[in-house]
Amino acid sequence: MQRIRFFGNYAWWRARGVCLAGCGLVWALVGGASVYSQQLIDATKVIGRDACSKCHAAELTAWQGSAHGKKAWDLLDDPKASDFARKLGISAADIKSEKSTCTRCHGTHQKATGNLIIAKGNSCESCHGGAGGDGGWLAVHSDYGQGAADTLAALLKQRESESADHLASRKAATQKAGMNRAEDALAIASNCLQCHIVPDEKLIAAGHPSSTKFEFVEWAQGEVRHNFLLNPKENAEVPSLWLATGEGRTPKGRKQLMFLAGQLADLVLSLRIRAGVTSAKRGTLGDLANDRIDDALDEVEDAEIDDLAPILDIMKKNKIKKSTLKKTKAGDKKLYSGVADEVQAVADAFVEKYKDANGLPASVKPPRKAKGKAFGG
Ligand code: HEC
Ligand code: HEC
Ligand code: HEC
Ligand code: HEC
Repeated sequence: MQRIRFFGNYAWWRARGVCLAGCGLVWALVGGASVYSQQLIDATKVIGRDACSKCHAAELTAWQGSAHGKKAWDLLDDPKASDFARKLGISAADIKSEKSTCTRCHGTHQKATGNLIIAKGNSCESCHGGAGGDGGWLAVHSDYGQGAADTLAALLKQRESESADHLASRKAATQKAGMNRAEDALAIASNCLQCHIVPDEKLIAAGHPSSTKFEFVEWAQGEVRHNFLLNPKENAEVPSLWLATGEGRTPKGRKQLMFLAGQLADLVLSLRIRAGVTSAKRGTLGDLANDRIDDALDEVEDAEIDDLAPILDIMKKNKIKKSTLKKTKAGDKKLYSGVADEVQAVADAFVEKYKDANGLPASVKPPRKAKGKAFGG
């Protein structure tokens, strides 16, 4: 069957009609502060990967061989790097320093222990959130309330007798401290995209790639994968801790949820980028954002999930369609930021409802491809 592009005469969506009363919950959520607005991890909370190695040696080894452990930083020595920097007015001597925007995405700014250190590559906390600093999640995330333990194995043994109340309060504390767990699929996907969609018109105009191909499942299942927590000898297909907890969780469901979380994160971020651009001409950041919005909306339609239908209604209500996306106007910032907030509220509620990833329809088909080879796989 030929795929109908967004705002085509999609039967399922049209049959629903524009939601009226059913959208109440969604509107009520709008405007709430989001934990993953467009900004990179707070450096004053980043303590560095040495603080993780004692318990997560297998994850660290997998990471070291990945693009985040090596290539990301090495790219700053590429001849193209000095060209991009020059066009942005960054001196060659400053490319690897805190003065350049480059090290925010090709390195990790760590400041939890005092002076700023720029670590090479994108470290654990670039994705899982800064763990140190005042009230950081490092100590609390592995504290089962049963005293210190010397090894990860001993800690995991304690896990088996953790009470439900303790688990709930430990999770709440890590969430409050900004930890991105495997369970927080939307937050993690959104965080990947903050580097993988380059949100800077000047950088793209200088020739830097805008990274149009990122898709969460494909990009997380290859060289990035490090699911060793419950068994350091096996890089599991999906996070081992996630799989061992919750109701009816399966690897298949996990990938479906990741796929949708990735599309929703992409949609929200692309709408936010679209809000800020000054041009939507071919080859610009605005054009890229439009394409991504378009693609993500197609995926939302194709999923045929009623809980996601409000997103299409939001677009309709705000008269956003292909032709209007392509014209930048003075009021765009307000329009697209508002729409992004509304879509985000739907996405948050959706991922919360489906956090066990069961019950997603067969129409949600995550890609089977993987970017690079999984470590140990
Ligand atoms: C003292 C041992 C120890 C140290 C040090 C440690 N961890 Fe952990 N980590 C654990 C344990 C135990 C768990 C399982 C927690 C649970 O049951 O919720 C865990 C779980 C995790 C998870 C998975 C959580 C989830 O729900 O998906 C992530 C991510 C993580 N740690 C990251 C880190 C990072 C990053 C560092 C360094 C900044 C670090 N850890 C340092 C012991 C440790
Ligand atoms: C918002 C995050 C971000 C910023 C800021 C950023 N980069 Fe990148 N950079 C990336 C990503 C992601 C890629 C990989 C793109 C792809 O191929 O998918 C990349 C790719 C590159 C490449 C390879 C280009 C190629 O054509 O193969 C070079 C060189 C590079 N960056 C240098 C720089 C320099 C120099 C700066 C600062 C002037 C910089 N980057 C700023 C995220 C960023
Ligand atoms: C702090 C910025 C940052 C974050 C966050 C980030 N990445 Fe990256 N990533 C990069 C840079 C820079 C590169 C190097 C570009 C390259 O390899 O061409 C890269 C490379 C990659 C590559 C290798 C691409 C290739 O062409 O070889 C994959 C796969 C990848 N990232 C997936 C992810 C996933 C999945 C997430 C989230 C779970 C993520 N990244 C989060 C900055 C980031
Ligand atoms: C590029 C982003 C990124 C980086 C860098 C990263 N992680 Fe992760 N991590 C993830 C994602 C995404 C998942 C969940 C994967 C999934 O859903 O398949 C995850 C899962 C985990 C888990 C749970 C595994 C399980 O079996 O349950 C642990 C523990 C963990 N990471 C620790 C670390 C440590 C320690 C580092 C640094 C050495 C690190 N991560 C670096 C993105 C990242």
